Amino acid sequence: MTAPLPASQRLPVVQQNEIAECGLACLTMIARYHGHDVDLAGMRRRFPVSLKGVGLARLMSIAASLGFESRPLRVEPEHLAELRAPCILHWDLNHFVVLKRVRGDRIELHDPARGAVTLTRAEFGRHFTGVALEIAPSAAFAPVRERRPVSLRALVGQVSGLPRAAVQVLLLAVALELFTLALPLALQWTIDLVLVGGDLDLLALIGIGFAVVVLFQAAIAAMRGWLVADLGAALNAQWAANLFSHLLRLPLAFFEKRSVGGVLSRFLSVQSVQQTLTGSFVEGVLDGATALLVLALLALYSVPLALLVAGCFALYALLRWIGYRRLQRLKEEQLVFVARQQSQMIESITGMQAIKLGNRAPDRAARMANATHEVARREAAIARTTASFAALGKLIFGLQRIALIWIGATLVVRGGFTAGMMVVFVTYAELFAQRGGGLIDKLVEFRLLGMHGERIADIALEPPEPHLHPPYSGPEPRPRIEVEGVSFRYAEDDPWVLRDCSFAIEPGESIAITGPSGCGKTTLAKVLLGLVRPTEGRVRIDGVDIERYGLARYRERFGAVMQDDVLFAGSIADNIAFFDPEASLEAIEAAARTAQIHDDIAAMPMGYESLVGDMGSSLSGGQKQRVLLARALFRRPDVLLLDEATSHLDVEREHAINALVADMAATRIIIAHRPDTVRSAQRVLRMDRGRIAAA
Ligand SMILES: Nc1ncnc2c1ncn2[C@@H]1O[C@H](COP(=O)(O)OP(=O)(O)OP(=O)(O)O)[C@@H](O)[C@H]1O
Ligand SMILES: [Mg+2]
Repeated sequence: MTAPLPASQRLPVVQQNEIAECGLACLTMIARYHGHDVDLAGMRRRFPVSLKGVGLARLMSIAASLGFESRPLRVEPEHLAELRAPCILHWDLNHFVVLKRVRGDRIELHDPARGAVTLTRAEFGRHFTGVALEIAPSAAFAPVRERRPVSLRALVGQVSGLPRAAVQVLLLAVALELFTLALPLALQWTIDLVLVGGDLDLLALIGIGFAVVVLFQAAIAAMRGWLVADLGAALNAQWAANLFSHLLRLPLAFFEKRSVGGVLSRFLSVQSVQQTLTGSFVEGVLDGATALLVLALLALYSVPLALLVAGCFALYALLRWIGYRRLQRLKEEQLVFVARQQSQMIESITGMQAIKLGNRAPDRAARMANATHEVARREAAIARTTASFAALGKLIFGLQRIALIWIGATLVVRGGFTAGMMVVFVTYAELFAQRGGGLIDKLVEFRLLGMHGERIADIALEPPEPHLHPPYSGPEPRPRIEVEGVSFRYAEDDPWVLRDCSFAIEPGESIAITGPSGCGKTTLAKVLLGLVRPTEGRVRIDGVDIERYGLARYRERFGAVMQDDVLFAGSIADNIAFFDPEASLEAIEAAARTAQIHDDIAAMPMGYESLVGDMGSSLSGGQKQRVLLARALFRRPDVLLLDEATSHLDVEREHAINALVADMAATRIIIAHRPDTVRSAQRVLRMDRGRIAAA
């Protein structure tokens, strides 16, 4: 059996956010276990990984830079217990998990894709590849704190009108609480003064007085409810909009590494946080304040009884505290599984044709059912935990009430309390239990906010694409594109995709780039467009570094059709003008004519108003390419970049487009395989495995 974890060291669960960062997540867990205070976002920034993930060698080099010694081993499952846990295990040939401990036949793992899991040896054997990586602090190990502070302000961004509304809500809520506190007094006065003294006039006074109090209470409760609803809606709308506009400013690489469902689920977190903030925050503050006030009132009646009430509350708080981690883990896992479920669904819907062709519908359905089952399991576990706590609360506070009535009644008989005092004491004690319990619930909710916060931070604190709008004031450069010593790779230990490329394209020149599939043409196009930043070297426009010129301005001068370009839901005219409301139909038509698509559009019953689905479904492959070409031409670009933009066309149409493009005044960069298209350019760059082989 592995040695038990020392009490001070906890192995956290770190869930991966990007598709290929399981190795990094495993290392983060182990680093945290040994005392490094790091988070995944920080690790990602320090050790970028590409979509292809990290291998064992890279994991070892990252571990070394964190001050760990690592030792790769081959182990048979039966010798697992001899490993120094926590360590990293190679899983399913494409994944890493952390081994927490071995307990007899049960093996406890932290899987960055699933959370904490316990497997039997048989289940374990089906996934474990036999390779393990032991990790221990080296002599040079010194704990670091590298967590990114997540402040609410940074997460939410600019939201207007919030403080004023919050103050209003708070004031109303305070008034409400005062009324709530006053109401039990009606009972005490009625019992002690009216019942005992027989004063019916006083009863009428108390009755009317407190009826007015109730009236006010109801009115204020309604006002507060409305205000909170409005505040919540406003906050949610502004926040989601802020986050989305931030999302739009992130670099392309951010999206390449994430699943759609993962990104979408971040927006669900916004809603959760907003609801907690607008709903529970004010209530939590008030619950706390009221509970304290009530406790003071209780102490006025009887100190020992007040202590009893406080003791019961402390017991409940302690139990909640113990159960908190489980709840947090479940909720975290649930979020991750919801994201996965959404990704599955989106992927299946967009890939319906391939699913039907491959006869994979049953398989996809089973995967979805699995994902849904995982979500449901977490939900049920959360609900069970919550229900257990509710029952526990009922038990503790129920027993408390019986004890109070018992002791209170004894006191009344012995003459220490009046009957009214006893009733009011019990009422206040219940109010205290209710508010105190509410406070605990809200504190738990707040602590769970951290988890949502970190998920939102994955978008909100990600730095936006740099160099978009630098203050460039030099002369407007001519469209001469210079590439100087450009090398590129997706991550540090990935192979080079582009290596030492240098060339220049004169204004008005047309060049063709050709080469075998996978040699890096599309990547070069992305570098030329400023979509990805070269790892080494630079791109200039007429001698000005494009980062100094400003990437937004630079891209403005390009019209590009990319290999996997998409159309958006809307009419064809909208798509050609890219939803520019001021676009004239003449300009749209002119672009369409040049792209050889005008006749096709004119033949459609709705012409330019024909609708394109968001998957571009109503057009043929070649038609879609020509609409994309029209969209690029509509911008009247200084530089036209076409990445296999005519690959779906018939030879004649392609020839016609080539001839038109050949006569254009713009600088043209054409990536193509077909000889006719390649020949139409003035100069040909041949690429081979990331290098420019011949010009
Ligand atoms: N996001 C990514 N992460 C890691 N590697 C990538 C990524 N995108 C592409 N690559 C790799 O970069 C290399 C070059 O890809 P690129 O798309 O530039 O090729 P290409 O020349 O355009 O090929 P094709 O003619 O098939 O379009 C390929 O080996 C590919 O596997
Ligand atoms: Mg390509």
